[in-house]
Amino acid sequence: MSSLTDLRLDPYPWYAQMLESSPVVFSPEFGAYLVFRADDVKKVFADHQTFSSAVFDGLSQDFPFENQLTGMDPPRHTQLRALATHAFTPKAVMELEPRIRQIVDRLLDAMFAKEEIDFVRDFSVPFPISVIAEMLGIPPEDFGRFKGWSDTTVEISERLLTGQTEALPEHVAAFDELLGYFRDLLNERRREPKGDLISRLAVAEVEGRALSDTEASYLCSLLLVAGNETTTNLLSNAIRTFAEHPDQWEKLANDPNLASQAVEEVMRYRTSVQLMFRLVKQDTQVGGVAMKAGDRVAVFLGAANRDPAKYDRPNEFDITRPPAPHLTFGHGIHFCLGAPLARLEVTTALKALAGRVSAFRIPEGSDLEPLTNFNLLGLKRLPLRIERR
Ligand code: HEM
Repeated sequence: MSSLTDLRLDPYPWYAQMLESSPVVFSPEFGAYLVFRADDVKKVFADHQTFSSAVFDGLSQDFPFENQLTGMDPPRHTQLRALATHAFTPKAVMELEPRIRQIVDRLLDAMFAKEEIDFVRDFSVPFPISVIAEMLGIPPEDFGRFKGWSDTTVEISERLLTGQTEALPEHVAAFDELLGYFRDLLNERRREPKGDLISRLAVAEVEGRALSDTEASYLCSLLLVAGNETTTNLLSNAIRTFAEHPDQWEKLANDPNLASQAVEEVMRYRTSVQLMFRLVKQDTQVGGVAMKAGDRVAVFLGAANRDPAKYDRPNEFDITRPPAPHLTFGHGIHFCLGAPLARLEVTTALKALAGRVSAFRIPEGSDLEPLTNFNLLGLKRLPLRIERR
């Protein structure tokens, strides 16, 4: 197997090989069974009784991730998810649309005024942070602290996933600060509610049960991270891909109504969350390979989205392909809560860019440094030359 580092910029040749030769296989490097085919990935996601999400339980006492929605199984998950859904409604997302458009325009104006554009620094990082911070109801003067907290949380989960269970003191301090920040804000909103998501979470009740302070502050921290890093990477992946496929950008620039379809194709073609872990609860098999209770499984969403059994020309980027359902947001009870928001954000950004840009070019010799985190596909920098319309 290629080393994890080699896979960060372009894991797809390896996926093609594994989809064909070893679609389910144990990897000592991951300490897990790797699952690549779309049907097998879906089966793992769908069977939450056999494949538990509680992969972090007991790994580190400093970070009790069993309090995090993504790491819970029913019945706790069912109850907490209902409360989160109650506050994070599609209506609340749609209401944000005009504000999202304003944020896009403000950031694009600032980006176009620069001589040297780094799309990651200038747009794909600040955009989703501004949106989720505004949706949660974070005062603008605190926005700057968010990126640091979001990065810390990503680093913590990467360390845990790679078996480094000893917490770094600076991570513990930053995570405590983040939870404390949200706890204070929740208390403020209980006293004086506003129309924001934190106020709704502070008072949300399902069947007479409200969120505890711990649950609510963990949920806010999850929304902050899940809503940030993933969308940032989707945006960078979108522009990297269009720079590499100028014919596809031309199609979109000529017909911005293709934007939402284009977003789906980017998500399929360059999936921002590449893999998720599950813990086997009872002996089972996937794709004919036996697994025992206690084994770990890594499902590769990026590979499943290029499974030749599901897609014609899986390795071709084609924004006009017929609707092709993908697994980018997961499947089953943990299906991404923020999918409507992510779709709205990236569609709005692509539409605005389509009106202003006729071509993106990555300057020759640019170093496209991948993220250090192996389960996220994205870039640390994306230098761009932009041809204006
Ligand atoms: C769950 C991907 C954006 C909030 C998930 C899962 C995936 C995912 C794969 C399933 C995790 C699992 O099964 O273990 C993405 C991608 C995004 C994105 C690719 C952007 C391109 C967002 C946004 C938010 C969000 C914008 C909210 C602001 C959540 C939450 C969950 C989740 C709360 C946990 C749901 C649960 O455990 O029941 N996301 N996400 N995500 N996502 Fe997203």
